[in-house]
Amino acid sequence: MTEAKNIMTNSGASSNTLREFFPPREVPQPKEINFVVGTQSDGDQKRYQVELDVNFDCRVGDLLEAKDNRTDRHYLLMVVDIDYAFPHKTEHAQMLDLLRRRPDKEVDDPTFRALCKNLAICTLLGEIQEREITERGYRPSKYTTTAVEASSHTEKLMASEWQIGVNIGSLRVGRENRPNVPVRFSTVELVGKRFLIVGQTGKGKSTAMRQLLDGHLRAMSSKQENRQVGFLVDDFKMEYPFDTYNQAGETVPGLISKLGAVSKDKLVILSCNPDEYREHTHRIRDIVQLQLPLETLSLSVLCDLANLTEAQTNVVRLIEDTGKKTSEFFSDLLAVDEYGMPNTVIWGRKYGPMFYSAAGKKKVKKGEEISEEEDIDKGLRDRLSYIRRAVQRLLKMPFMTRNASYGDCTGKLLQYLREGCTIIVDKNQLEDHEREMLTVVLLYHIFRHNQGMASGSKEQRDRMIPVVAAIEEAQYLLSQDKVADPDSIFAKIAFTGRSYQIGLLAITQRPQAIQKELLGQFDGFLVLPLEHANDFRHLADACPALSGYRNDLASAPIGGGVIAYGSPKKIVSVQIENYL
Ligand SMILES: Nc1ncnc2c1ncn2[C@@H]1O[C@H](COP(=O)(O)OP(=O)(O)O)[C@@H](O)[C@H]1O
Ligand SMILES: [Mg+2]
Repeated sequence: MTEAKNIMTNSGASSNTLREFFPPREVPQPKEINFVVGTQSDGDQKRYQVELDVNFDCRVGDLLEAKDNRTDRHYLLMVVDIDYAFPHKTEHAQMLDLLRRRPDKEVDDPTFRALCKNLAICTLLGEIQEREITERGYRPSKYTTTAVEASSHTEKLMASEWQIGVNIGSLRVGRENRPNVPVRFSTVELVGKRFLIVGQTGKGKSTAMRQLLDGHLRAMSSKQENRQVGFLVDDFKMEYPFDTYNQAGETVPGLISKLGAVSKDKLVILSCNPDEYREHTHRIRDIVQLQLPLETLSLSVLCDLANLTEAQTNVVRLIEDTGKKTSEFFSDLLAVDEYGMPNTVIWGRKYGPMFYSAAGKKKVKKGEEISEEEDIDKGLRDRLSYIRRAVQRLLKMPFMTRNASYGDCTGKLLQYLREGCTIIVDKNQLEDHEREMLTVVLLYHIFRHNQGMASGSKEQRDRMIPVVAAIEEAQYLLSQDKVADPDSIFAKIAFTGRSYQIGLLAITQRPQAIQKELLGQFDGFLVLPLEHANDFRHLADACPALSGYRNDLASAPIGGGVIAYGSPKKIVSVQIENYL
């Protein structure tokens, strides 16, 4: 500081003294005359402008290693766009004119070269230290910082924080893949986290899932990983366990084909139609019939699932307050009279005055019995019949049973998850609303189990089952209208899974449909190329670290993506390995 002052006051010597602060001049090699010449802003993000030597070849996604001669610091930059270094001026127009029409005339070489120069717009990934890329608050200085293509050693640093867990592919630099720099991802750490796999159809979401599941199953089976983590995985096409074909007609192997003994040990199928898969019985751990008893749902979950109105929900609350068992409520609700018609009279008889109509009240006063429909309040009767129909619709779903005596798979479900199995939930033949309902009911059971243990002794807490639920088309479950009511089961699943050792691995091609606040709370993202610019913007709002990667993603080859994870977000461009 004092030296700086001297320069300012001692005006005579100022120019020479100032020069001393500049490093000795080095003449860079051709192709290396790439100078940081300024900054610009892109939304909230600062970008560095690197004026490129005309002979230097670079593209979006490339990594540049920059050296600041003044401070002797090294930085890592990523090219996010390429622009022209100089604006077009009158003298340039004249020169172009000469070029086009007067081959005999000399053109002014320096101006011509300047005209041809490009500017790389870069994002600063961090400062390069010996073994890592860090953020220590330093920034490249203007003019004394030159950039060259990053060395392979430096590139490798990009993946240094991605060396634990399942191998999912390798480092990607722009359109190029670095097969000798693996990228790993910890599936076990997803417990209690929220992670989004997002990308347009056909860009490799399922392929990424196959890599994760394959690696996870192997890890769980090898016993090297001492923490058993269960996976519950949506499968709309039964494409994970079994071989399928892709659009090019190639066979995409299923987990069973690739895993052999591992799938026998740890892979379970949960299906409404287990008979369809009997031929595979000897190759997997178990095929379990999906049977979820209605009675195991709480009444408030029922209200959420059946999407009841406020008035209807109030009726259910009244009943809840009577302290009667859920099972009794359901059997009363579904009770029929001697003619097979819904029996509403039972409500007056069992649940008392709150259900009486004016006529009913009179009768009771006179000491008579509640005996016919008119004795029951009309409004309540209507609401009950709506609730009845909703329950009947729920019961019609192929995975619901009336009560445990008709079948109950929840015990097996929890047991297999506890053992670290991967359970593939067969949603192949289900309707959209059934698929969604199934997810909620399954998650509710896991949630309830872990919640029950969470507040107990250490021994009980150890009985919580660490689970990761992979949910396809997750935008429906995580949409604004679903998660808006904080007391609903949807909001519980979306917002509070964290404390109950439940991880959410959401898969979608429509990130915009996910509630914004919720998206902002995601711990990580695997972003594959997206269809709409708006989709990317929505994601970058939720995770600003992604914002520099829009062009990188747009130009990435198939299987190319970006992972952002943790806090602060670590980020890596990745080439997911094809599953063959
Ligand atoms: N990482 C990858 N490497 C090479 N090809 C891939 C990769 N990911 C996907 N593909 C190709 O694209 C096809 C569709 O991929 P898929 O994972 O089913 O996409 P999505 O689930 O996003 O619709 C695959 O069958 C494969 O041919
Ligand atoms: Mg898919």
